[in-house]
Amino acid sequence: MTFSLVRLIKERQNDQYALHQRYINPSMARVLEIIGFNKTYVRGEGAYLWDVEGNRYLDLLAGYSVFNLGRSHPVVKQVLQEAILLDRPNLVKMDCPLLSGLLAEELVKRMPPGLDAVFFANSGSEAVDTALKFARAATGRPRILYLDHAFHGLTLGTLAANGGAVFREGFGPLMPGFDMVQMNDLEGLERELRRGDVAAFIAEPIQGKG
Ligand SMILES: Cc1ncc(COP(=O)(O)O)c(C=O)c1O
Repeated sequence: MTFSLVRLIKERQNDQYALHQRYINPSMARVLEIIGFNKTYVRGEGAYLWDVEGNRYLDLLAGYSVFNLGRSHPVVKQVLQEAILLDRPNLVKMDCPLLSGLLAEELVKRMPPGLDAVFFANSGSEAVDTALKFARAATGRPRILYLDHAFHGLTLGTLAANGGAVFREGFGPLMPGFDMVQMNDLEGLERELRRGDVAAFIAEPIQGKG
């Protein structure tokens, strides 16, 4: 019998909370049960979710705004299906793949002048880690400044730039050379910058998670 994802989902759909309870994040499974969010969603489209009983929900949280296109966007679906059917020569070690080149070209078109090259990363945390590395390498300076309550990810590098004690607790010692400044404390920021050893000041335009 060949593997069928459709069949697997059909057979195991009701096990989702038990699986997370057993293997992934028991606290999350318990919290969702306590607050009544332990729904069995079976479909997502745009800003809506549907549960196994056919109830429709408007997802106002929207994955911390990462789903700007909405779930199951028809163009994204079509392109993913095309990409799979094309049997492209993916992951050739010695290659400069066409599709990443085309994506880089489109991104650069949309960026302000002076930002003319792209580094692809797998997550926000990896992107921030890399930006911090680039800043140190480009300036030859060691220090990174970040804001109180900042959130830039949960890798060891980005945790050092996290302005919330609750995220950092238990993971020390964190990376050296990271110093916090207070939001709206322009004098404090200028004082730190005047020392001449700051590679980067990182800040979210609007603080959210922290
Ligand atoms: C402002 C900001 N930077 C970085 C990250 C980390 O991104 P990721 O979870 O993809 O590693 C997040 C995630 O919530 C974020 O909100």
